[in-house]
Amino acid sequence: MALITLRQLLDHAAEHSYAVPAFNINNMEQGLAILNAASEVDSPVIIQASRGARSYAGDIMLSHMVKALSEMHPEVPICMHQDHGNNEATCLSAIKYGFTSVMMDGSLLADMKTPSTYDYNVEITSKVTASAHYVGASVEGELGVLGSLETGEAGEEDGSGAEGKLDHDQLLTDPDQAVDFVSKTKVDALAIACGTSHGAYKFSRKPDGDILAMTVIEAIHNKLPGTHLVMHGSSSVPQYLQDLINENGGEMPQTYGVPVEEIERGIKSGVRKVNIDTDCRMAMTGQFRKIASEKPAEFDPRKFLVPAMQEMENLCKDRFERFGTSGNASKIKVRSMDEMAEEYARGNLDPLTEN
Ligand code: G3H
Ligand code: 13P
Ligand code: ZN
Repeated sequence: MALITLRQLLDHAAEHSYAVPAFNINNMEQGLAILNAASEVDSPVIIQASRGARSYAGDIMLSHMVKALSEMHPEVPICMHQDHGNNEATCLSAIKYGFTSVMMDGSLLADMKTPSTYDYNVEITSKVTASAHYVGASVEGELGVLGSLETGEAGEEDGSGAEGKLDHDQLLTDPDQAVDFVSKTKVDALAIACGTSHGAYKFSRKPDGDILAMTVIEAIHNKLPGTHLVMHGSSSVPQYLQDLINENGGEMPQTYGVPVEEIERGIKSGVRKVNIDTDCRMAMTGQFRKIASEKPAEFDPRKFLVPAMQEMENLCKDRFERFGTSGNASKIKVRSMDEMAEEYARGNLDPLTEN
């Protein structure tokens, strides 16, 4: 099966009121875990590669890996997405390597550390959208800067993140500005800021509305009912994985992520793409630690990787089920990027129009 574009996939998700998890990958084992889970529960999936993943695995390896995964699982529609593209070159080179979707993150300058101006964000995102749509690829933009409402800081562990202290105006997407941004840039999906941040250390307590502003998502959805919303920093950092790591020699301080029930609430308000990386990292690392502590004489990497893949697969399966993604893979008839390009050229995919 050919790879699916983000736009087609999220249009289907909106029509049937579900969301699609976007799992980050860096290597074959993560790819196998994600696809085994997707196949088992009949889910489409978004696989995303950060700039860090592209330099870790290399573009050739990554693109062939995704082709191999889709050959192994032709029943699963896979969207291959660039996570946090920092400029036009990153986004367009991803498309050259077969990605069907890119994120142009213009909320930060190309250094991925300095918050940008609104005009810069509109200009660079519009440029990427215009080019990507010519070849049928989809574009996700971001308005608002990811970071903690508790500390005013972006996550420490992510590959990209604002430096310094941010105020609440920067950390919460403005709904009226979101309308202007989508109408000017024509993005297929909009990442919003509502108090989530990358990495494991998101909240110092179970989040309430003061530090996880789900009402911002609801306000944006009211003004933009036809636009697909994206939640970044959406790992739940489950207690059982913190325990698995800490019971086997880890020293992760107690922390809290985004509760799955808050994501389910977001899905009722237009959230269609949910970014998860940290939970998958913790699932694998937890098992590495467990094997290392239980079997100190073990040295075959496969003895570590097989349980690590299983732990990650369980986590992915749970998210497919909770987000309502399961049962939908077999209902989607994948359209080619050429067909999508024709639709854009005909003006049929206006992000402000409800499907
Ligand atoms: O954007 C954040 C993701 O967790 C990717 O992280 O840049 O370390 O691959 P990374
Ligand atoms: P987490 O760190 O919460 O998994 O977020 C990942 C993400 O947003 C990737 O873009
Ligand atoms: Zn992100």
